[in-house]
Amino acid sequence: MRLHPGQVPEHFAEALDALTHAWRVHAVRLVADERGFLTLSALGWDPLITPVAPYRLKERLLRAVVGLLEDGRAWTIDLRRAPHWLIVGATRSGKSTLIAALVKELAPQRVALFGIDLKGGMELSLFEDRLSALAATRAEAAHLLAELVAETEARMQLCRSVGARSVWDLPPKLRKMPVVVIVDEVAELYLVATREDKAEVGEISTNLLRLAQLGAALGVHLVVAGQRVGSDLGPGVTALRAQLAGRVCHRVNDAGTAEMVLGDLDKDALAAAQQITAAEQGVAITVGADGRWTRARSVHVTPEQARRAARKYARLAPSWPGLHTAGEPNEGVYS
Ligand SMILES: Nc1ncnc2c1ncn2[C@@H]1O[C@H](COP(=O)(O)OP(=O)(O)O)[C@@H](O)[C@H]1O
Ligand SMILES: [Mg+2]
Repeated sequence: MRLHPGQVPEHFAEALDALTHAWRVHAVRLVADERGFLTLSALGWDPLITPVAPYRLKERLLRAVVGLLEDGRAWTIDLRRAPHWLIVGATRSGKSTLIAALVKELAPQRVALFGIDLKGGMELSLFEDRLSALAATRAEAAHLLAELVAETEARMQLCRSVGARSVWDLPPKLRKMPVVVIVDEVAELYLVATREDKAEVGEISTNLLRLAQLGAALGVHLVVAGQRVGSDLGPGVTALRAQLAGRVCHRVNDAGTAEMVLGDLDKDALAAAQQITAAEQGVAITVGADGRWTRARSVHVTPEQARRAARKYARLAPSWPGLHTAGEPNEGVYS
């Protein structure tokens, strides 16, 4: 309902009264979203408690509906608007479920998906049929990231050579397939036990940061999930975090972690994150490209549903021979 407060104050009061006395109103919201206008909306149920399948948005490349916002609108992770995302939460807070919802939506799209999951590939192997590569050890992750950086740099050269500012400005026949790199439990990448580890971790950290810095304009996107993203993991983590503009904070164990995810954005968001209880799996605070925060709940995508979606669209996964052979990056991604 759109109201002009200056013109019809009595209607406004009437409408509010009617809404608050209506049957089962969960929330009434008043938003001054346009100068001179107020939008009044009422919701008959709580999207954070009652899971309802979100209505479909028109399909668009790199956009995924992953749940519902607290005001009942669809929760979208739009990689064109916020190219990189950070998903944080304690164990069993809903990180992997959110990734499953994201992959399920991206699976039918013409995108190349890559996974890095050093917990033996346990979480991301569900989607293996749809992944162009899955790195399950640190050595594999180092190798994959180096190749992805090479691919990104090749795209940069190409854009430069034709005077395009991003891959999206390339003429259709030169277009590149978007790449989405999903990292589950990012801390594992930074753990150092031996001296040899140190060199490898340094390389991984540099390459991950390079992808984040260059990738946005070149169709290379990062979705990084973890329990913690503190600077104790290494200086590279802080720099990486700064590049990941899309934020999702599930329940966390300590205020410090919530602050690292949301604190530099909004104090109220921080307080809201700390109120999420262990029973509210899948509930999170999210901040998109516009910098505004809101509560949201992911759709409950089960591992079986995720596996099925990945299998169904397996043929859309471009092959990535680069993982096995050195040399030119894969043709498939260049199509
Ligand atoms: N949006 C959701 N709605 C309902 N249940 C959920 C939701 N997200 C997660 N869960 C429940 O919480 C459990 C743990 O979630 P998971 O995504 O594996 O957490 P994490 O990866 O953070 O450890 C899931 O097995 C599921 O039962
Ligand atoms: Mg998990």
